Amino acid sequence: MSKTIILLATLLVAAFAANGTSTICKQGNIVNMQLNSKPYYFPSSWSENQTAPHLEKHQSCSWTVTVPKGYYAKLVIDGKTQDVDSRFETIDAAGNFIQSKHEKREPYYFPSPKFTFAVTSGANLTTLGFKIVWAPFPKTFGDSISGIGHMPRIYNATNYVYKSAYSASTQISILPFPADPKNLYALRSALVFDGYDLTGSYMSNLYLIAKTRKQFISPGSSIFVANVEPTLNSLDTLYVQNYAYTKDIHQYVELNCAAGNVTCSVALNGGSQKSAVVSVELRTEIITNIELEDTATLSIYGGSPNDMCFIATYNSTEVKAALPISTMGWGNQYVISHGKAALTFNLH
Ligand SMILES: *[C@@H]1O[C@H](CO)[C@@H](O)[C@H](O)[C@H]1NC(C)=O
Ligand SMILES: *[C@@H]1O[C@H](CO)[C@@H](O)[C@H](O)[C@H]1NC(C)=O
Ligand SMILES: *[C@@H]1O[C@H](CO)[C@@H](O)[C@H](O)[C@H]1NC(C)=O
Ligand SMILES: *[C@@H]1O[C@H](CO)[C@@H](O)[C@H](O)[C@H]1NC(C)=O
Ligand SMILES: *[C@@H]1O[C@H](CO)[C@@H](O)[C@H](O)[C@H]1NC(C)=O
Ligand SMILES: *[C@@H]1O[C@H](CO)[C@@H](O)[C@H](O)[C@H]1NC(C)=O
Repeated sequence: MSKTIILLATLLVAAFAANGTSTICKQGNIVNMQLNSKPYYFPSSWSENQTAPHLEKHQSCSWTVTVPKGYYAKLVIDGKTQDVDSRFETIDAAGNFIQSKHEKREPYYFPSPKFTFAVTSGANLTTLGFKIVWAPFPKTFGDSISGIGHMPRIYNATNYVYKSAYSASTQISILPFPADPKNLYALRSALVFDGYDLTGSYMSNLYLIAKTRKQFISPGSSIFVANVEPTLNSLDTLYVQNYAYTKDIHQYVELNCAAGNVTCSVALNGGSQKSAVVSVELRTEIITNIELEDTATLSIYGGSPNDMCFIATYNSTEVKAALPISTMGWGNQYVISHGKAALTFNLH
């Protein structure tokens, strides 16, 4: 008798163990900051030193996570989907939406008052484990407000913790450039607000802006960027300009070659508007070849496109005759008046 019970119990435990690896979740969870800023884990038994468990099939689940004023939340997801219907989604306080199929623990950062994380699992096995930690915005020293005039400013975007405001007479334009265009994640920790400090409205982060491949324009005369965690050795940069000079530039492309390659080719297409190649390093840049439309021009600036930074302008016949064209400097811009263009550079 007792043997039968033990056997039954063993069988039940075995069955539970096999099923127990599939997690069940629900919609509409509300998660508040834990006492002592303790991390929140899902499933509660999971932690980063384990592989993510399977999620029960055919589920839609969501977590709304509150973030107190003056704090940010960091979300680390380990998850993989295996079918067309399954996905992970985050929505931040400004309504920015990110959908993904595979999460490899590259952190997301969210300011107050909240963010939402949702998962949909379809017919095939999805794995999911995630962690949320809350922390106060770091105290930084020498928080600055920089007035941006005719010269652009170039900053390290992610390798240190900072809180900086940039202001101009009209508006500010920012361009985040990842050092590795295939790896933008470090830019997620740099949060962008309207105004001069954390009291302004949260708008976006440098990762979302880099993904648009467009300049981000402040609604007002200043913009505030806070990088809450450093990514050591990251060489991501932030190129800040006075929007008065960049209004009519439709497309910006960074001059960023594979490491060690001194030859770099860039393609542009501004349509009927201007486009520009921008450089964030101090070096000599030599245009060795250029293709542009017959009626188009190339203008070179040692900074933002304005009279103070102007170096030279060439029409399509002059530019061919002038090759190779050498420019020394930091933050150079090569502006094409319109249409498709292709430039080849030699960098030293
Ligand atoms: C899960 O449990 C049910 C009922 O106990 C069983 O029929 C099913 O085979 C189990 N699934 C797995 C994957 O073990
Ligand atoms: C896994 O992490 C938990 C919580 O951080 C810790 O208590 C546990 O000792 C760790 N286990 C291993 C095998 O590292
Ligand atoms: C589930 O996975 C199988 C094998 O990888 C694949 O053929 C099938 O299309 C997937 N189902 C869905 C709904 O994506
Ligand atoms: C940016 O970071 C690099 C690498 O850490 C460093 O060498 C450089 O001095 C920094 N630049 C500025 C302007 O702080
Ligand atoms: C280096 O530049 C040359 C010429 O543009 C190009 O063909 C080659 O693919 C580049 N190599 C790398 C590693 O990017
Ligand atoms: C470029 O300018 C030169 C004068 O400097 C002129 O002779 C030539 O026709 C122009 N070419 C084009 C395509 O406008």
